[in-house]
Amino acid sequence: MASNISPLKIAFACAVLFLLSASKYACGCYKSIISFGDSLADTGNLLYLESTLSNKKPPSGFLPYGETFFHHPTGRPSDGRLIIDFIAQDMGLPFVPPFHGEGNNRTEPNRTMSSPRRNYREGVNFAVGGSTALEDSFFAKIGVKIPYANVSLAAQLSWFKKFLSTICHEPSNCKKFLQTSLVLMGEIGGNDYNHALLGGKAEEEELIKLGATTLMVPGNLPIGCSAYYLTYFERYMEKYIRDPNTGCINRLNMFSEYHNSLLQMELERIRQIHTHTTIIYADYYNAAMCIYLSPEKYGFSKGTVIACCGGGGPFNVNLTMHCGDSRSTTCEDPSQYVSWDGLHLTEAAYKWIARRLVEGPYTSPQLITANCAFSLKSRGFSDH
Ligand SMILES: *[C@@H]1O[C@H](CO)[C@@H](O)[C@H](O)[C@H]1NC(C)=O
Ligand SMILES: *[C@@H]1O[C@H](CO)[C@@H](O)[C@H](O)[C@H]1NC(C)=O
Ligand SMILES: *[C@@H]1O[C@H](CO)[C@@H](O)[C@H](O)[C@H]1NC(C)=O
Ligand SMILES: *[C@@H]1O[C@H](CO)[C@@H](O)[C@H](O)[C@H]1NC(C)=O
Repeated sequence: MASNISPLKIAFACAVLFLLSASKYACGCYKSIISFGDSLADTGNLLYLESTLSNKKPPSGFLPYGETFFHHPTGRPSDGRLIIDFIAQDMGLPFVPPFHGEGNNRTEPNRTMSSPRRNYREGVNFAVGGSTALEDSFFAKIGVKIPYANVSLAAQLSWFKKFLSTICHEPSNCKKFLQTSLVLMGEIGGNDYNHALLGGKAEEEELIKLGATTLMVPGNLPIGCSAYYLTYFERYMEKYIRDPNTGCINRLNMFSEYHNSLLQMELERIRQIHTHTTIIYADYYNAAMCIYLSPEKYGFSKGTVIACCGGGGPFNVNLTMHCGDSRSTTCEDPSQYVSWDGLHLTEAAYKWIARRLVEGPYTSPQLITANCAFSLKSRGFSDH
């Protein structure tokens, strides 16, 4: 497992891959992206749901969220684009619109969940920030209660099924839609996976039953490098040891690695059963570790574990006063930081990770290979 790999070896791998992947690659093989998950992939669902259901916005509804790329808050918990946005751009697709959003404003006349205004044919995003146990407690701590708790993967899947029934009037249309889509399933916090996977109720399998043929499932990021955790541990835990090379808490990272190893075992189990489905594991953890091990090399000169935006303290994280609060401070150049608000990463870090997923070996099987193999097959070429 990854825990046996020395930092030196990872750093070497990063360097080689960085050189190999310098050229830009774009592939237009998928016609749409369907996404489920939590705040790492939420392009606006939580903002819409909170604004309409409780008249209160989550932090991601306030500047400086969105300042770098969109220049206004979109509900994305970052200063700009997320990994899913970069993947969409690389595939020549539009940004994946949130299912619960302006385009599907249920308070407007004639716009119900069953008659969305937006054209979701090129993508639809069901991911909602706060859909993990981690974030529930995080938001509760910072005083933002998620008004309706049911944003679990299971709930997201039930929205998806309703959505399917509205867009494809015949089952064969649905199948075609799903077969030409890349389905992103996650990232989602450790507790949710324990729930879904160890309980023997993998959402992936439900999607396959519905007709999905390519799923990409990301693992967790190294939580021991999160400025929020570092702050929490410094404050409340007596002893913790930070790795001198990365500044991260290795013991917490081992938890992420353990989670990721369980996830990969589960994906392998599903692959054995569904041999015609391509199930891609996206290694967010090791892609991100590249940055944590050599931040300067990749342009993150202001460090890795200090949040760009936050309420002060050694990691610029204040457990009761979050980025987005009018009293919080924001760094001058977020592109030199890895951590955006302590829990989520900057656009620059997401871009770096997304590039490695699309071009490089941090997807297994590789995203592009899987992608274009499908495209060839659908045009009548054999598996060769
Ligand atoms: C939804 O539509 C109503 C009525 O047009 C509008 O007042 C409200 O601002 C919209 N909400 C969002 C989040 O777009
Ligand atoms: C809304 O729906 C009603 C009933 O189906 C219809 O008569 C009306 O024209 C619709 N309004 C709009 C703005 O589409
Ligand atoms: C959440 O929604 C899912 C799917 O609709 C449902 O199966 C589950 O019982 C709900 N959970 C709670 C706690 O309401
Ligand atoms: C966090 O912010 C609050 C509100 O500004 C402040 O009262 C508190 O002292 C801060 N906590 C720390 C640890 O800096």
